[in-house]
Amino acid sequence: MRAVVLISGRGSNLQALLAAERARDLGGDIVGVISSRADAPGLHHAGQAGCPAAIVDASKCADRSAFDAELAMQIDACEPDLILLAGFMRILTDGFVQRYQRRLLNVHPSLLPALRGLHTHRRALADGHTVHGCTVHAVTPELDGGPLILQAEVPVYPDDTEARLAARVLRQEHRIFPHVVRWFADGRLQLEPDRVLLDGRALERPIRVTAEEPLPE
Ligand code: GRF
Repeated sequence: MRAVVLISGRGSNLQALLAAERARDLGGDIVGVISSRADAPGLHHAGQAGCPAAIVDASKCADRSAFDAELAMQIDACEPDLILLAGFMRILTDGFVQRYQRRLLNVHPSLLPALRGLHTHRRALADGHTVHGCTVHAVTPELDGGPLILQAEVPVYPDDTEARLAARVLRQEHRIFPHVVRWFADGRLQLEPDRVLLDGRALERPIRVTAEEPLPE
């Protein structure tokens, strides 16, 4: 199983995926990393792991379709079975999502369908949520709207800061994202446009664990 990881920034999820690959827990190889920013700190993790990295700099592309075309070219050069959005801060166009449908996964820092979009930790605090978390889901043209696969929840404490809550959620992202990739690599997970199947059965709702619980086999 050949995976490509798309990043835009810090790259801690990329780091977790690379660690799982190194430990032979990913079920496949990360054959390329593509960043939408030339200065993404996460590129350093690719370099350290000896993983080929490319930059598709949105600010240097004439328009949206030029960016998509360049990104698609870089992705296709890697011949991936799976494309992982790991903090990739670009909205994907319908055409792009359709081109790669059945092989796109995203990790999002909320218990979807709650808190789609940005600043999820700040909004969880502002809205008085007592439980928060993260989700791995299949990608569809609707932003953060694709079929949900695996979620990890964390408590929100009364004296939480955005940074503390974000760090608590991030630890869980690092746990669940490689785990779902493993399911895909092992041929257990099928991504369809409107549903996902695990071991041949459609998931009616995402599998959800707490931070303390082990992940399901
Ligand atoms: C993560 O919280 C991810 O869920 C969100 O952006 C953040 C990226 O973090 N989409 P990193 O670059 O993987 O450290």
